[in-house]
Order: sequence, then structure tokens, then C-alpha cells
Amino acid sequence: MDILRTIAELRRRTSVWCKTGERVGLVPTMGALHHGHLGLVRAARAQCDRVVATIFVNPKQFAPGEDLEAYPRREAADLAMLRAAGVDLLFMPAVAEIYPPGFATTVRVEGLTECLCGAHRPGHFDGVATVVTKLLLQSLPDIAYFGEKDYQQLAIITKISGKLFPRLSIVPCPTVREKDGLAMSSRNALLDAASRVQAPVISQMLFQVEELKNEMSVPELKKLVSEKINSASLMQLEYFEIANENNLQPLNVINKNARAFIAVWAGKVRLIDNLSLNF
Ligand code: PAJ
Repeated sequence: MDILRTIAELRRRTSVWCKTGERVGLVPTMGALHHGHLGLVRAARAQCDRVVATIFVNPKQFAPGEDLEAYPRREAADLAMLRAAGVDLLFMPAVAEIYPPGFATTVRVEGLTECLCGAHRPGHFDGVATVVTKLLLQSLPDIAYFGEKDYQQLAIITKISGKLFPRLSIVPCPTVREKDGLAMSSRNALLDAASRVQAPVISQMLFQVEELKNEMSVPELKKLVSEKINSASLMQLEYFEIANENNLQPLNVINKNARAFIAVWAGKVRLIDNLSLNF
């Protein structure tokens, strides 16, 4: 696995593959890798001739006061995992390579970014949309892989791809969970032992909503989730919403496009999860 730090090198390498007709898969990450990330790499390895992974903790998607400094970094372990998973090329740029002095262009997807997590993290999805657009432009993959764990992010990137990269396929990958149901996340490493014990209540509530969706109304389900999450002493609900999974707008009645979305604070650690309600 080659490690590249500059856009020029990345372009040079991927443009050769482009010319030789090799299918290139891109897996963008912020590092501190776990089996959720590896699921994306595995899908790319199975479908593509070349797999490019990126590790870049993107400052533009962290608002002031968020956990940019505390975000876990585990470079040596990440490299070993990506090597073992058969990644051909890892792009690991410095911040100044992606945002050089004078950088002033932002990508914003209106309509999908204001709701759910966007309502609580102003500017977050502009930061995500901007960096992902840059990574796609620099590596020009045939396929890019994103996790359903960050469903709103996936919806935004799918929209960008449809408008700006018509030949690119976005492949959604299912959420990988710990044995107790907690969605894998780099931020799980920031949980203290007591919060880690309580955190599975988040996915448990999503599974319960799925079970009860034909017996309870949306307001009743919201009340149930709010009470249960807040009764875990170390958890605080930020939001629970049932929304149309295509346009992310809230639903008052569950239909075949319904998906449940949740964000919870465990002390200073923010955890998110979601579950389709259409099965
Ligand atoms: P990061 O949180 O590192 O996640 C990288 C990719 O892994 C994303 O597509 C995310 O949805 C996926 N992923 C994370 N946890 C997962 C899980 N438990 N199961 C399945 N997939 C999972 O998301 C980002 O980084 C950044 O916003 C990024 C897209 C790299 C832009 O900076």
C-alpha cells in the first residue's frame, strides 16, 4: 500500500488507472478505523480493481467547540488495518494540502442539510460536502463507498454525486454494530466505561421502534424514546425523528420510506444511529 500526501501525486496515480480502464473505488474516512470502515473497504475490494482509502480529519466539518482536538487518531493501527484489507493507495494529506491559504469555496446542498443532525451542527454538512467533493475531484473514482450509519451524510453525498459526478456510483454500506447493538463509531473510543455500558440503549430504542411501529403513533413513539433514553443516567437525547429516507423530511405517519434517526449525548461524546422502518 502506497501512502500519498499530495493531491498532485494522487491525481498522477489515479489518472493512470483511469487511462488503463481499471475500476477505482474510493473509501473516504477520518481514521481511527473499526470494522464499520473495513466493511466499506471490503465492498470496494470486491467490486473494484483498485481501492483508494483516505484518512483526513476534516477541520471544516467540526464547528468551534466541537471535538476536533479530541477526535481519536491512531495512525499506526489504521495503516496496518488498511494494508491487511488490501488497499492499494492511502491518501493522507495535511490540512494545508486540502485547504491552502486563500481557500474560499464551499459546497452546500440545500434541503437535506438543515434538518436532523444539520439542525444541531451548523456548518457540519457544508464541511462534509466540501471535502468529499474535493476528494472525488482529485481521485476521480468509478465508485465511492459510504456507510448508512451516517445516513444524512450518505443522502447529501448521493445528491452531490447525481448533480456533479453523473458517472460516479455511490454504494451505501450497512451499519456494522458491536455485539450489544451499539453502532461502531470512532467516537465510541471516547466513551468512559460507565457510558459505554449505557450506550446500547440507543440502538435498543431503534429496534423497539421498529417492533412497535404498527402499534403506536409517531408522537407516542417519540415520547417513549425520549423517556427511555433520558432515564439512562449518563445519556441525553439530542433528537429522535422519524423521517422520509429520501428527502429526510419528518413524517407524522410511518410509511414504506420511513427511517428512524437519533442523536444522543453521552457526556461530551455525541453518538448517532438510524434504522430503516420499511422492513
Ligand atoms: P468517518 O466517521 O471516519 O466514516 C467514514 C465512513 O465510514 C463513512 O462513510 C461512514 O458512514 C462509515 N462508517 C462509520 N461507522 C460505520 C459503521 N458502524 N458501519 C458502517 N459504516 C460506517 O464519515 C466520515 O468519516 C467523514 O464525514 C467523511 C465522509 C470521511 C468526510 O470527512
